[in-house]
Amino acid sequence: MIEATGAAAGVPYPLGHGQVGVTTRHNQCVCIRHIVKRDAELLVDLFHNLSERTKWLRFFSPVGIPAHKLWDEATRLSDIDPRIQAALIATIQRDDREQPVAVARMIRSTPLSDTAEVAIVVRDDFQREGIGRTIFDLLVQVALVQGIKQLYAITLPENQGMQRLARGVGLPVSVRVQAGEMTITIYLQDPAAKDERRWE
Ligand SMILES: CC(C)(COP(=O)(O)OP(=O)(O)OC[C@H]1O[C@@H](n2cnc3c(N)ncnc32)[C@H](O)[C@@H]1OP(=O)(O)O)[C@@H](O)C(=O)NCCC(=O)NCCS
Repeated sequence: MIEATGAAAGVPYPLGHGQVGVTTRHNQCVCIRHIVKRDAELLVDLFHNLSERTKWLRFFSPVGIPAHKLWDEATRLSDIDPRIQAALIATIQRDDREQPVAVARMIRSTPLSDTAEVAIVVRDDFQREGIGRTIFDLLVQVALVQGIKQLYAITLPENQGMQRLARGVGLPVSVRVQAGEMTITIYLQDPAAKDERRWE
């Protein structure tokens, strides 16, 4: 069920409460939904299940988020401002509780900006199962609905997984490497189409 709460909340975009069920390559049922405030605990749980390598790729540091800041960060990251943010979480049901396996989020600087930064992480024991692809494609769809024209990810040049994920969306992509960081931009609206419009 998609519940449109945006108008009541005075924000331009509805914050979806729908959920999507998908099956991984190894037949695990995964539920993908928007992050809500009470998910802070799940974000902490996810963080504790990331390897140093995955933290390095996501946060550019093997520690990721320092332990004393983890709860504050998780609380902040689960309190979504729908005017400028969207965040999806993928979870499984195991041992009678919901366990997180991936998060994908995007943020833009102002509600009027048509460019958003994206970030994604999949728990190590669930990587290469197709979850990154599914949650990322869903986030791209949210971006399209919100009128975003460019999505960019700041990543490390060695990050083959992120590069394949971005290219696999099937939209035009540009890559720029500067000061040891790679910015991958996905064009939801073809930049050439934008130029043509200028000449109409
Ligand atoms: C990058 C990441 C999100 C991919 O998620 P995933 O669930 O493992 O990806 P999927 O199984 O859906 O595969 C998506 C594509 O990435 C490719 N891929 C995934 N991991 C890869 C790796 N380590 N090396 C090369 N390619 C990889 C897959 O082959 C697939 O390619 P295809 O679509 O061309 O067939 C995941 O590896 C991750 O969390 N990495 C650490 C955090 C990170 O790098 N975040 C990005 C910076 S913000």
